[in-house]
Amino acid sequence: MSDSLFDVSGRTVLFAGGAGGLGSALALAFAKRGARAAIADMDEGKAKRLAASLPGPGHFGFGLDVRRDESCKQAVATVLGQFGRLDVLFNCGGVIFLGSSLTLPAEQFEQSMAANTTGVFLMSRAAARAMIDAGGGRIITLASVSSTVANPNYAAYAASKSALIGLTRVLALEYARNNVTVNAIGPAVIRTPMSEKFLEDETYARTALGKIPMGRLGQPEDIIGAAILLASAAGDFITGQTIYVDGGRTLS
Ligand SMILES: NC(=O)c1ccc[n+]([C@@H]2O[C@H](COP(=O)([O-])OP(=O)(O)OC[C@H]3O[C@@H](n4cnc5c(N)ncnc54)[C@H](O)[C@@H]3O)[C@@H](O)[C@H]2O)c1
Repeated sequence: MSDSLFDVSGRTVLFAGGAGGLGSALALAFAKRGARAAIADMDEGKAKRLAASLPGPGHFGFGLDVRRDESCKQAVATVLGQFGRLDVLFNCGGVIFLGSSLTLPAEQFEQSMAANTTGVFLMSRAAARAMIDAGGGRIITLASVSSTVANPNYAAYAASKSALIGLTRVLALEYARNNVTVNAIGPAVIRTPMSEKFLEDETYARTALGKIPMGRLGQPEDIIGAAILLASAAGDFITGQTIYVDGGRTLS
């Protein structure tokens, strides 16, 4: 019996900030399942290389700065021009600056909010306009366990990620009648270019691992199940939620 519940084949998917560790894993998982991927990233070359490496036809990559309204609008126009429609947006971009709140440069706080929060707002509403016109769509944001747990030195990152829970809920409410669902996935630490430099520090790595009840760090592949759930028919009636994929990190 073929089961279409989790089918994402033929879906057109924009991975915004998608050339990084988690964006790449998601794009590969969706391409393998027959989706068409548009990879957009600050690093245009990396976005194009990733798109060219994906299995199946029709994927493409281009430059995007989610902090800029015009760039987000242009990204949606580019996807519509190429694919004719936009079914799913993944907000995968992000930056992280760690440091005591007493000494963290104010610019680093602002940069975190601009890329991680304002960027998700601008990119999501640009996609939503097209999805509403088309009769529906899916918006899925990579939040973090830092959306809810507190760690010392995480003021900028946690503030930018906590805001995404509220943003997700408000957008979900605003677009509910338009058949556009808005959800977030909150991973625990996963080894990617973003976390690599911190995990090289033994104390950091030991502390991070010690906080995960299931006793291991995440892997990029761990978030694929939740992503497919939210992007497929299985997720038709799920909106406004943040699903933590974290080995129990947020339980205590
Ligand atoms: N890796 C982890 O441990 C982890 C855990 C929880 C949440 N997350 C979140 O998942 C998302 C992806 O993380 P990752 O580990 O793949 O990081 P990564 O550093 O590998 O990738 C992030 C990507 O975002 C892009 N980017 C940054 N600023 C941008 C901008 N203004 N416009 C467009 N693109 C921009 C970068 O060029 C990069 O390709 C981030 O939002 C991150 O906060 C990561």
